[in-house]
Amino acid sequence: MMEWKAISAGCALALVASVALAHSGAKGVVKERMTAMKDMAGTMKAMAPMMRGQAPYDAAAVRDGAARIAAHGGDAMTRLFPEGSGHAPSEVKPEVWQDWQAFSELAAELEARATALGLAADNGLGTGTPAGPLAEQPANEVFVQVGRSCSACHSRFRIETD
Ligand code: HEC
Repeated sequence: MMEWKAISAGCALALVASVALAHSGAKGVVKERMTAMKDMAGTMKAMAPMMRGQAPYDAAAVRDGAARIAAHGGDAMTRLFPEGSGHAPSEVKPEVWQDWQAFSELAAELEARATALGLAADNGLGTGTPAGPLAEQPANEVFVQVGRSCSACHSRFRIETD
């Protein structure tokens, strides 16, 4: 048991170190998009306990978080991926520029879903209904859809390093 803990702590440290290393060389637009992505990850992480009912629900905080993510989506995201910016330490796959249409659609989808999350903030938590506009669903259901936009793009266009 002790041994397992020691090993896993070591792995976690190695992971942190490799991420730090990868980012130390990032410059210009690559650094800019990594910063934008990290900002979104932090915002999602901050909202998650509320969405799971583990922290008091705060509609204003959800609106703020949603607006923050929406502002990073769509054109604000795609303009950070100019052609030829896929070199190391970037973790972007060349498929981004081979399938720009699909990539920009996913960026637009993120913006749309985050916008819907802002509109759904006052709906609070609950169980979703299968049909109907996203903005009319409970906020936690819309939050899950926002997260799916992140993963959908990553699984297709980002080199998985962990
Ligand atoms: C349209 C595609 C797309 C969407 C949508 C998207 N990402 Fe990303 N993300 C990428 C790509 C591509 C990279 C790799 C960028 C690079 O290394 O140059 C990345 C990298 C990241 C990273 C690593 C940043 C770093 O410092 O290396 C994080 C964290 C991240 N995304 C979080 C998110 C979160 C959270 C969301 C949703 C709220 C999201 N992303 C939505 C494409 C996307």
